[in-house]
Amino acid sequence: MAQYPSIMKGMPVLLHGGDYNPEQWLKDRETIWKEDMVLARQAGINTLSVGIFSWSHLEPSEGLYDFAWLNDVMDMLAHNGIKAILATPSGARPPWLAQTYPEVLRVNHLRQKQLYGGRHNHCMTSPVYRAKVAHMNEQLALRYGNHPALGVWHISNEYSGECHCPLCQQAFRQWLKARYGSIEALNDAWWNQFWAHRYQSFDQIESPTAPAWLGENENHGIKLAWKRFTSDQHCSFYRNEIEPLKRITPDIPCTHNMMSTYPGIDYYALGNQMDRISWDNYPHWTGTEADAEVCADTAFRHDLMRGTGNNKPFLMMESSPSAVNWDSLNSLRRPGAILLQGLQALAHGSDTVQYFQFRKSRGSYEKFHGAVVDHVGNHHTRVFQEVCEVGKALEKLSAVTGSTAENQIALIYDWENRWALEDARFASEEKNYPETIINHHAALMKVGYGVDVNDQTKSLEGYRLVVAPMCYLLRQGFAQKVQAFVRQGGTFVMTYVSGYVDEEDLCFLGGFPGPLREVAGIWAEEVDVLPAKQTNSFLYQGKTYTCQEYFELTHAESATVLATYQQDFYAGSPALTVNTYGKGLCYHIATRTDRSFLTDFYGHITAQAGLTPLLSTVPDGISVTKRVGEGGRTFLFVMNALPCENRFPLEQARVDLLTGKTHAGMVSLPPRGVMVLSEP
Ligand code: GLA
Ligand code: ZN
Repeated sequence: MAQYPSIMKGMPVLLHGGDYNPEQWLKDRETIWKEDMVLARQAGINTLSVGIFSWSHLEPSEGLYDFAWLNDVMDMLAHNGIKAILATPSGARPPWLAQTYPEVLRVNHLRQKQLYGGRHNHCMTSPVYRAKVAHMNEQLALRYGNHPALGVWHISNEYSGECHCPLCQQAFRQWLKARYGSIEALNDAWWNQFWAHRYQSFDQIESPTAPAWLGENENHGIKLAWKRFTSDQHCSFYRNEIEPLKRITPDIPCTHNMMSTYPGIDYYALGNQMDRISWDNYPHWTGTEADAEVCADTAFRHDLMRGTGNNKPFLMMESSPSAVNWDSLNSLRRPGAILLQGLQALAHGSDTVQYFQFRKSRGSYEKFHGAVVDHVGNHHTRVFQEVCEVGKALEKLSAVTGSTAENQIALIYDWENRWALEDARFASEEKNYPETIINHHAALMKVGYGVDVNDQTKSLEGYRLVVAPMCYLLRQGFAQKVQAFVRQGGTFVMTYVSGYVDEEDLCFLGGFPGPLREVAGIWAEEVDVLPAKQTNSFLYQGKTYTCQEYFELTHAESATVLATYQQDFYAGSPALTVNTYGKGLCYHIATRTDRSFLTDFYGHITAQAGLTPLLSTVPDGISVTKRVGEGGRTFLFVMNALPCENRFPLEQARVDLLTGKTHAGMVSLPPRGVMVLSEP
């Protein structure tokens, strides 16, 4: 692990800012833009993201460019010491582009061509759209490449969705040819002898549809391939966007704002292409005790996103400083929640606190979405004052910039696994894969550990404990990595429905968990799936735990049985096993367990593996993470998600960088309080 340079070259501080749409105020620029700069400086804002949805201002009609207003915006930012995160505008196209080139419009899974409107709805394949975007991006790079305000490229906005147009069908077939080589190989990989599906040529292949009555929605092979293809199309769309930027401005980092567990794009693949990753964080804070869970959920999302960026410091590109506008109920953030939300991002590796949006729109869909500057247009608002508090806090924390988590625990979350798992027919309902991973993540944090969230392609080296729940699809090489990891002394935890299918979604023959059978020392013969209320139980270390939904019936081969089911026809068969393999251990949890079991279990096995938690006890509502900076200096982030006072034990005296006070012993945190503790 390492200390990373600041995301913004020459600005070794944490970034504070947000989406800024000055083109919405062109007619009032003399007053509004000036006010904006005064207010931004007052709030300690040092970066603003501009140009995200500006295409119709940058190119009002085809080939007719107008960069004058953006020149003024960039100059104004530079003049005020604010760096620009300058966007490419592909997230929303101007009407003329759709009118002149209908091929840029997306076709949905029902094969209906969508009309102009909304945003994030272009065809990812269309050569015209790709060329237009690349040309626009080139113009931006040529014009602003040397501008003193330019800090980071913000590529498009929240890529999402899929397109089934004829161009995409053609590209899909090309993609399939490249992956499989021959139609025979494709037929074999998809098990197309089933239901008489063997194709004779790639031209016969059509993208899957939903619902199934319209076309193909039951062949798992094509569905998985389509998801991979769509994800790849977004990645190649991204590469097309950055080509001119990298060519003209090789030193300016590129990022794209992602959406945590959004299922449609393998964010590890996309993240690999970015210089730094960024993401948009919209927790459903409640203002009640339930915020402990919101905090746990958000903690996972931060760790997941950091993982997609290979655990480098990242950008929290968006967060709401107050209500959002898209929920069924859009509640206000309670006092203190904005600071808590911002510092939580830092706690998990963000080097920025950014909002959507700086100034509230006057009209249209987002006119009531939270913003730093409200319609009243001045600094006399509660939200503005709270944003100023965040600004002050960030100034005190600039030493945190570039520091990284040095976690010994990795949790595996994998998009390809999720895609395959969704289709597995042992339960028709949601498999709750993300929720399951979040449960393990929360339990690990509850026993005091920071967690990296990686996918199956990442290295396991350097970790002491690796946890891979519901690891149903094994990607090429993953089982071998697990074997080597355990053999060398690592502890690996796996669960029910793991090691069932290979990378093509074909079941492993010869006994589950397939290539993990030897390391786990078990054979998983069957899996029972029951309604949530029909629970079972097991006894582990003197305590009885309830388990539900998934019950795998396993046989201990070389493994030792640690707990057995207490009910049903499989009473007495293993619910939890451990296998010694080389110098390490592999645990197998055969059933879906709740947080209380996972917390106790991880408490035991981490102690056994000789890991030291960040705090000896983590009371309910409190969470703790660590970042390590220059010269090994540590930053311990301790936060209280609850709307009441909370206390935690601190073994060594530490200084809170936010207040300058030294703490030791039982430390009290105010409601929604955060401390950033460092060596005295
Ligand atoms: C997303 C988008 C923003 C804005 C916000 C509103 O994250 O990227 O443009 O619409 O949602 O919450
Ligand atoms: Zn298309």
